Amino acid sequence: MSRNGNGRQCALVTGASGGIGLELARILAENQFDLVLLARSRDKLQALAGELKAAHGINVTIAPADLSEPNAAQAVFEALNGGGVQVDLLVNNAGLLHEGQFSAIDLDQQLQLLQVNVVAMTALTYLFLSPMLERKRGRILNVASVASFMPVPNLAVYAASKAYVRSFGDALSQELSGTGITVTTLCPGVTDTALVEGTDLGSLPSVMIMDPKSVAQEGYRACMAGTPVHVAGIANELAVQWIRYQPSWLMRAVGGLLNKSRST
Ligand SMILES: NC(=O)c1ccc[n+]([C@@H]2O[C@H](COP(=O)([O-])OP(=O)(O)OC[C@H]3O[C@@H](n4cnc5c(N)ncnc54)[C@H](OP(=O)(O)O)[C@@H]3O)[C@@H](O)[C@H]2O)c1
Repeated sequence: MSRNGNGRQCALVTGASGGIGLELARILAENQFDLVLLARSRDKLQALAGELKAAHGINVTIAPADLSEPNAAQAVFEALNGGGVQVDLLVNNAGLLHEGQFSAIDLDQQLQLLQVNVVAMTALTYLFLSPMLERKRGRILNVASVASFMPVPNLAVYAASKAYVRSFGDALSQELSGTGITVTTLCPGVTDTALVEGTDLGSLPSVMIMDPKSVAQEGYRACMAGTPVHVAGIANELAVQWIRYQPSWLMRAVGGLLNKSRST
């Protein structure tokens, strides 16, 4: 049994200061996981840590870090190792989105997005997987998106970053079959969080928008079941099934039409 000396397993949640990550942290706490909470906002992490410790009697460590910094993943891994914290469940949830024409978004911002959504996620998986393999036990939950299933004009880099997350996780779940380690990729559709505030996505009809708690609950259940890929919500699942069986020329045309209707 993998433990931090108290009989509980420990989950590291990136992007735990808000949205889906915060709800995942709450659900994990309710299920008696010790937690490591990672995000840039130290104050929010401290407040959440206090709330979860008091409500559930668990240990909570905060790990304020900026995952757009190239060495952040390594630094977090070493700090936790040095502090004797063993991570049994890794949740790669932190992510950011920039909406707009590719050529109109600052290059530094696009590269930062890739650093957080792709590079840091890959590095954290690599680093925390190694001790999991030694223990022959562990779980990884990566948060991709419904946008991973098709190219999305005005979200070109974001959607491509999420296609990476899904492809990577799906392949890894197969590589790790029989090792005691599961990899789950959660694909939410549009969800009511700060990520989509002020974007065209946030102004969709409310029936098309999920709440972060429901998304997190589905993600937690899929992770515990070891499901390789889970699309959150029935409407999103139906949309993904439809997308899967369309030729790529049609998906490009649909993306182009959506883009046109948004820019008019
Ligand atoms: N909302 C949606 O419609 C939607 C749909 C599909 C997929 N997703 C995915 O779901 C995941 C969570 O998104 P959300 O909707 O919950 O967004 P959110 O409310 O904006 O939360 C994003 C989290 O990531 C953290 N974060 C952002 N940049 C970071 C950085 N450089 N270093 C460390 N942490 C950073 C934020 O904390 P700090 O600001 O404190 O650093 C925050 O805790 C993302 O991967 C997103 O792509 C969201």
